[in-house]
Amino acid sequence: MTITELGAPPLRADWADEVRRLARERDAVVLAHNYQLPEIQDVAHHTGDSLALSRIAAAAEESTIVFCGVHFMAETAKILAPEKTVLIPDAAAGCSLADSITADQLREWKTEHPEAVVVSYVNTTAEVKAETDVCCTSSNAVEVVESIPADREVLFLPDQFLGAHVRRVTGRDNVHVWAGECHVHAGINGAELTARAAEDPEAELFIHPECGCATSALYLAGTGAVEPDRVRILSTGGMLDAARATRAKSVLVATEVGMLHQLRLAAPEVEFRAVNERASCRYMKMITPEKLLRALREGRDEVTVDPATAARGRAAVERMIAIGRPGGGE
Ligand code: 13P
Ligand code: SF4
Repeated sequence: MTITELGAPPLRADWADEVRRLARERDAVVLAHNYQLPEIQDVAHHTGDSLALSRIAAAAEESTIVFCGVHFMAETAKILAPEKTVLIPDAAAGCSLADSITADQLREWKTEHPEAVVVSYVNTTAEVKAETDVCCTSSNAVEVVESIPADREVLFLPDQFLGAHVRRVTGRDNVHVWAGECHVHAGINGAELTARAAEDPEAELFIHPECGCATSALYLAGTGAVEPDRVRILSTGGMLDAARATRAKSVLVATEVGMLHQLRLAAPEVEFRAVNERASCRYMKMITPEKLLRALREGRDEVTVDPATAARGRAAVERMIAIGRPGGGE
């Protein structure tokens, strides 16, 4: 049996054993985001959403973290664990959402709202985190904003769809939202969701709050076209919890298609279908089995963050880690 990837030679059947052996030799823990290729998810020591992986990175006992995800995630691990070596199998694995705001743009926005609390989604560069008061992920964005006194203005960045979700759930109109977006999630639109939901009236809808269709899903629920309790706005980790608990026979999934692998493992009896099968993140898919092996053999690509920048961003990331943890919220 061989493991293959598009355009690459077949990998040896003992690839996974070799990854685990090299990881032991290097004293490394391998982390994989839920959007990684299935074989990477399967070989990793831990697979999860952004928040779960940040927590694991912060608590890891190994001296090296191999982050199978995109660059800002590996940078976040380095900010939390500066004494550890952090490797990413391909340093070019970026993120269109993280690229949608620079530190200069944020500094300028702050001068327009000098009293505001800056809340940044974890999909941001280390330089942006250094200008941030508190970071959040999709699974704790609402709790993070709710932890800020109601009369304080908030600058929420960079994702406009997650920002709209936070404004809606908290009912706060003093949350200003940056107009950034992820090209993958913005491509999952309301028209496609409406068509898929009409084709399968019994299906539940799992929607990532970064999606362009999140507003449509809530609108559909509001008009009665879809029962409100069929629509769930969830982080990737939240989708897994919901998959284990659902009694639905089929679920429509609005997020990056890598998510389907963990969902099918979590609830094999449920049929999970993508709202948009083309919603694949080319950055996430830059992490291939061969590059993971190379990372472990050659110790590359190492992720570094300027110590002063890391020190300025650390408090914001640590607040994110604390909020939304069972028993650790505010
Ligand atoms: P989660 O925080 O739900 O894992 O989503 C992260 C994300 O969108 C990475 O692209
Ligand atoms: Fe960034 Fe979007 Fe890819 Fe996530 S799916 S890593 S937000 S480009």
